[in-house]
Amino acid sequence: MSILSGKNVLLGVTAGIAAYKAAFLVRLLIKKGANVKVVMTPSAKDFVTPLTLSTLSKNEVLSSFTNEEDENAQWNNHVELGLWADLFVIAPATANTLSKMANGTSNNLLLATYLSAKCPVYFAPAMDLDMHKHPSTTETFNKLNSFGNIQIPAEEGELASGLTGKGRMAEPEHIVSFLEKDIQNKSPLHGKKVLITAGPTYEAIDPVRFIGNHSSGKMGYAIAETAAKLGAEVVLVSGPVSLSLNHSLVEVISVTSAEEMYQAARNHFASCDIAILSAAVADYRPKDVASEKIKKNDATLTIQLEKTQDILKSLGEIKEHQFLTGFALETQNELENAKSKLKKKNLDLIVLNSLKDKGAGFKADTNKVTLIDKHNKVEAFAVKPKTEVANDILQYIIQQIDA
Ligand code: CTP
Repeated sequence: MSILSGKNVLLGVTAGIAAYKAAFLVRLLIKKGANVKVVMTPSAKDFVTPLTLSTLSKNEVLSSFTNEEDENAQWNNHVELGLWADLFVIAPATANTLSKMANGTSNNLLLATYLSAKCPVYFAPAMDLDMHKHPSTTETFNKLNSFGNIQIPAEEGELASGLTGKGRMAEPEHIVSFLEKDIQNKSPLHGKKVLITAGPTYEAIDPVRFIGNHSSGKMGYAIAETAAKLGAEVVLVSGPVSLSLNHSLVEVISVTSAEEMYQAARNHFASCDIAILSAAVADYRPKDVASEKIKKNDATLTIQLEKTQDILKSLGEIKEHQFLTGFALETQNELENAKSKLKKKNLDLIVLNSLKDKGAGFKADTNKVTLIDKHNKVEAFAVKPKTEVANDILQYIIQQIDA
């Protein structure tokens, strides 16, 4: 999965010959999982048709303040478009549009949207080599860069004029990888390694039976995906679940038993910056695992159990720079129990979920958590989808490690 997945990308197309490449760019962005809307300058329509771009983006393409052909002409809201976008990419960006952007002109929908956009703005210049090196263009670039806009450098090569030099719009593949790298580098967890445990563990009784629990792994997987979206390199140690996670920044290590989870977590702990242990690890396992299937003979059967390793506690004992987070699932004296677990296991943060809370629990898509830090500061959150809970937990950790 790309860091662009799920992002709202507004593509601005201006009137340069490279506008035909906007079609490829839309396709690549869609392939990366982005939601794409296109806004064009009126003359860009001479180079590539709105029909092509709307078909590829699966969204209406806008180029004027009103839909003139429509007799019930409707106002195209540039403010809304600007607010919808997580990033605004102007490609190709002609010298004319760039100069207007630098000077605050807003005589078309694209320019008005640029002035309203609060998100990061990228521009990929496309022009002839002499236009590209003209001092006025250099001044435009400098001005736009000083506004915080991000320039995707033009490339060298054959130009529409027949001349060869710098001025070609960066190839669509290069634009996409530029965006991915730039977003990643600016992400709050970029450069951080996050270790996450998730799901249940299965403790074998015999070759066909095990002791397990109802954990779905949804909370841990949501944390892993959100951490990757925030730029972290993630190691997800997962017990047996029916979920999958495909993200270039996530390494999934599948384990079955508490012992396997313990070994995997220990192997990765030293190199991680943040560890979040959300797995529902079995506290006990059968002392002896039968090598053959156990036959039903007597009226009762006793299985002797022994304690498993407490993974979280063991990491608390060897913790150095790592920010260690545990989970507590409690049914009574929730706060006191969670606080004592935090202390006993030497944690920086504990995420408390109470089974009594409506909307919290193992298999649900929602959760209700209370965060308690090592200074016993308590913050309770509302019932939310697990993806949002994951974000709350990670934003809390980011704040703590930045403080
Ligand atoms: N945990 C762990 N290894 C274990 C048991 C638990 O890493 N063998 C972790 C869980 O992933 C969770 C936290 O410890 O982050 C709390 O687990 P919980 O079962 O609620 O607490 P326990 O310490 O086992 O205490 P108790 O069962 O008495 O409530």
